Amino acid sequence: MTVTLEFFTFLYTAIITVVYCQADCPFPAPRNLSYRWMDPFTLKLSWFWEKPDNLPPGCEISYELNLENTDTHRVGETLRTESRHFINNCLTEEMGSGQWEFNIQVVSSGSCHGWNSSRRENKIINTPRAEVVKDFQCLLRSNETNCSWIPVDPSLNWTLSYRSCGTTAEDIRSTKECDRPYRSGKRCGCFLKVDAIAKDICVCVKTEAGLNTFKPKLVIPPPKLSIKESGDNLNLTWTTPDVGKYCTWKYMVCYKKCNEDKVCQTFQPIMDTEEHGPMRVPYDRSCLYEFQFNTTSGENCVPVFSNGGANATYGSNKLHDGTLTVVSIVIPVILSVCVILSCYCFRRHRAIICPNIPDPSAIFKEMMVNGNKEHKIATGSLYTPVSEPVEPCKITLLTENGVLQQNT
Ligand SMILES: *[C@@H]1O[C@H](CO)[C@@H](O)[C@H](O)[C@H]1NC(C)=O
Ligand SMILES: *[C@@H]1O[C@H](CO)[C@@H](O)[C@H](O)[C@H]1NC(C)=O
Ligand SMILES: *[C@@H]1O[C@H](CO)[C@@H](O)[C@H](O)[C@H]1NC(C)=O
Ligand SMILES: *[C@@H]1O[C@H](CO)[C@@H](O)[C@H](O)[C@H]1NC(C)=O
Repeated sequence: MTVTLEFFTFLYTAIITVVYCQADCPFPAPRNLSYRWMDPFTLKLSWFWEKPDNLPPGCEISYELNLENTDTHRVGETLRTESRHFINNCLTEEMGSGQWEFNIQVVSSGSCHGWNSSRRENKIINTPRAEVVKDFQCLLRSNETNCSWIPVDPSLNWTLSYRSCGTTAEDIRSTKECDRPYRSGKRCGCFLKVDAIAKDICVCVKTEAGLNTFKPKLVIPPPKLSIKESGDNLNLTWTTPDVGKYCTWKYMVCYKKCNEDKVCQTFQPIMDTEEHGPMRVPYDRSCLYEFQFNTTSGENCVPVFSNGGANATYGSNKLHDGTLTVVSIVIPVILSVCVILSCYCFRRHRAIICPNIPDPSAIFKEMMVNGNKEHKIATGSLYTPVSEPVEPCKITLLTENGVLQQNT
C-alpha cells in the first residue's frame, strides 16, 4: 500500500517536474570552477558540468564567462566557449589591479526549448596585482628598444619580463628577463632584446607590492621635417621612420598661421619610400607658420606613435593692408597733435625758453603806437569847414485881386 502511494507520489512529482521544466527550467550550474596562471599573462580557467539526461534532442549549450574586477567592478568582455576550459591572456592593463573574479553560466545555443540559462557561478582569482608602474613606454630605434617608466614606489626592487603576447606553449617559453636595466632621474628603464613592431609584446613589471602586465606603448622619435617655398605653396617633406620598414605610416601636420585657428591635414602615402610628400600647404607670405608634425603607424602594423611632434616655423608676421591704412591715418594725426602741443608749450613758456630775445612784434607795435599819436595831432589841426547859415526860403504869392499874400 505504502509502496504504491510512494510510487504515485514519485510519478506525480516527475510529471510536475517535466511539465515545469518544459516551461522554463534552468540548466544545472557549472561546478568545480578552478584557475591556473600559466605565467603572469596567461590564465587557464576550468570547470565541470554534468549534462542533464532529459535535454531535448539537438539541444546545444555553451559557456558564457567573463572576468570582473571586484574592487572597481570593471567587467571584461563576455566570452563564449563550448569546451570546458578557457585559456586567455589577462592583462592588468585591461582588467585593472586589485582582486578579480571569474564567473560562468551555461546558456542555450540552440534547440533547447523549455530550458533557461543556468545560475552564475563565480570564483575569486588570486594574484598580487597592484599598480607598480606609471607612464610605461618604449622608444624604438633601428638598433634598440628602450623602455622606461615611473615606479609608483621607487624604493622597491623590480624585475621585468617580456615575451610575445599569445597563449601557446611556444609563446610562454619565449619569456625573457631584463638584463640591461638603468635608472635616469625619476624613471627606471631597460633595453629589451626584441623587435617590438614585428611582434606584439607583453611586459610584466613585478615588485614586492605586486605586478602589472600590459602591452607597452610604442613610440618613435618624430620624423625630421623640411619646409621649402614653391610658388604659392609650402612644400613639406620628411624622413621615414627607421623602424617598421613594412609598416605604412600616416602623417599628420597641424599648423597655425597669423592669429587663425589650427588647421590639420593628414597624408598617407601609397608606397613607402625614403622621402615622403611633398605635402602642400597654401602659403600666405605675410604670416608666420607654426607647424606640428606627427606620425602614427597604419592598420597593417601594431600601434606606434611619434614621441611628441616635430615642431617647425616658417615665415614671419608682416603688417596687413588694413593695418597699413590705420597706421597711415593714425601716425600723422598723432604727429600733428604733438606739433600743435609743442607750439602751444613753446608759446606759453617762451619767457623761460628764450628769455632775452626782444620780440620783434613788440618793437613793431611800439612803432605803430607812436605813428598813431602823430596821426591824432594832425587830425586836430585839420580844416573843418564853418557851417554856413541857411536862409529859409520865402515865397510871396500874388492873389487875383492884387493882394499880396505871404506864404512860408
Ligand atoms: C568537484 O569537486 C569536489 C569537491 O569540491 C570533488 O569531490 C569532485 O571530485 C570534483 N569533481 C570533478 C569532476 O572534478
Ligand atoms: C526563464 O525564461 C523565461 C522566459 O524566457 C523568463 O521569464 C524567466 O525569467 C527565465 N528564468 C530564469 C531563472 O532565468
Ligand atoms: C631611453 O629612453 C629614455 C626615456 O625616453 C631617455 O631618457 C633616454 O635618453 C633613452 N636612452 C637612449 C640611449 O636612447
Ligand atoms: C633590493 O635589492 C638589493 C640587492 O639585490 C637588496 O640589498 C635590497 O635589500 C633590496 N631592497 C628591497 C626593498 O627589497
